Amino acid sequence: MQQTVQIQALKADITTLKVDVIVNAANSSLLGGGGVDGAIHRAAGPELLEACRQLGGCPTGEARLTKGFRLPAKYVIHTVGPVWRGGSQGEAALLASCYRNSLKLADERHCRSIAVPSISTGAYGYPVEQAAAIATQTVREALADASGIDEVLFCCFSDYDLEVYQKALARG
Ligand code: AR6
Repeated sequence: MQQTVQIQALKADITTLKVDVIVNAANSSLLGGGGVDGAIHRAAGPELLEACRQLGGCPTGEARLTKGFRLPAKYVIHTVGPVWRGGSQGEAALLASCYRNSLKLADERHCRSIAVPSISTGAYGYPVEQAAAIATQTVREALADASGIDEVLFCCFSDYDLEVYQKALARG
């Protein structure tokens, strides 16, 4: 039976969201960094770094789960987006696989609500218009196989990104 899933874009600091799981745009070491990764580690506390150490890294396009520690979210899914190299190095497929694997993992852990940042569009340089089209389309497709998820939030960090994601969602 197909249920109604709320999919929306909002502007927020992802570390403040009270959802079952937030997604982190990490690097393959999983040992922290700047951007959203740095913000998540600061808000979750040092236990998060300890938990990430146990994971031993993560290849680009894959995802790993930890607890959320001091965050309002119960879990963090750490995924590694591609570095933008002009678009002909498999970036689109890798970015799609970040969203697909993150939703799959969230569903396996019985998470109902998930917030995702704009993976790869900061330090990794992926053009946000193209990334938003991939993110929204992949999430819609992946929801067909993630029957327990009923809310997906695209958490944007600027007014411009919010507008881009809202337009991508409206295009359906
Ligand atoms: N909440 C939501 N979004 C945020 C936040 C926040 N608190 N802070 C930044 N963003 P980036 P990437 C947005 O650079 O491009 C790290 O050092 C940001 O404005 O965080 O995947 C990792 O360790 C942008 O729209 O991630 C890796 O080395 C989006 O999050 C590398 O950066 C993604 O920007 C990953 O680069």
